[in-house]
Amino acid sequence: MTGNATERGAAEEGPAEEDSAMEAEFDVVAGWTRDAVAALGPDHAVPAACRGTASPPALTWLGEACELAAGSRLVDAGAGVGGPAAFAAERFGVRPVLVDPMVGACRAARELFGFPTAAGTGDRLPLATGTADAVWCLGVLCTTEAKGALLAALHRVLAPGRPLGLFVLVAERQPVLDAPEGNSFPTHDELARALDVAGFDVVQQVAAADLPATPRSWQERIDRVERAVADAHGDDPRFGQAGEQQERMGRLLGSGAVAGWLLHATAR
Ligand SMILES: C[S@@+](CC[C@H](N)C(=O)[O-])C[C@H]1O[C@@H](n2cnc3c(N)ncnc32)[C@H](O)[C@@H]1O
Repeated sequence: MTGNATERGAAEEGPAEEDSAMEAEFDVVAGWTRDAVAALGPDHAVPAACRGTASPPALTWLGEACELAAGSRLVDAGAGVGGPAAFAAERFGVRPVLVDPMVGACRAARELFGFPTAAGTGDRLPLATGTADAVWCLGVLCTTEAKGALLAALHRVLAPGRPLGLFVLVAERQPVLDAPEGNSFPTHDELARALDVAGFDVVQQVAAADLPATPRSWQERIDRVERAVADAHGDDPRFGQAGEQQERMGRLLGSGAVAGWLLHATAR
């Protein structure tokens, strides 16, 4: 393991506000989400544990594009609470391995889905070279300045020809104002260059907005979990902090300043 949220906060000199906002959003809320799912029922787990605006159409597109095969090893870097990996396991029969820097997210994913998890950043994946059949990295590139190092690490764990599935929030125009703390969005050109430098060939990409709508039943399960979290923790300042992050992201997506893109690439 390469680090965890508590160690990060204590050991790094980075901006405390950014650290605590991202910890509220990705670490604290993860545990609250797990508790709400436990109360509401296991059918709420996968939708509530997708924290990167992933939807069934988006995850199905990625799984089909990457030709995920039953029994194959899918590494999810920045897996969060594990919803996308759980969807892939149910739909395609893969064996997920999860990595995320937030200890609370790793714990929630393990308790909800029982997958192997490791706490660590994606640029220092604690996995042997060439041992992944496929890698997903969804909604993560914009949360780190170390985009090149992250992509290089994803490339290292894939053998040549193996697939990478990405969900990336891309800056459609510059500058992107009032971004959530700790977020920076690549332009299309920057993303294409970073993938090429890391050793990936882009096979296909699609705007998330061009995929079919999220099924209402899926969204309703997310809404129920979010209401349960708000009822239990609405007075906690970290709830407000996480909500502020999500509202800022919502405004950027709503205005078109930032848009979600799905990419299928292969390692050279
Ligand atoms: C928007 S969430 C997406 C979570 C998950 N991929 C999903 O789609 O549900 C972003 C995730 O990236 C993780 N993260 C932040 N910085 C990271 C890094 N340098 N390497 C790997 N993951 C990182 C966060 O802890 C968080 O869980």
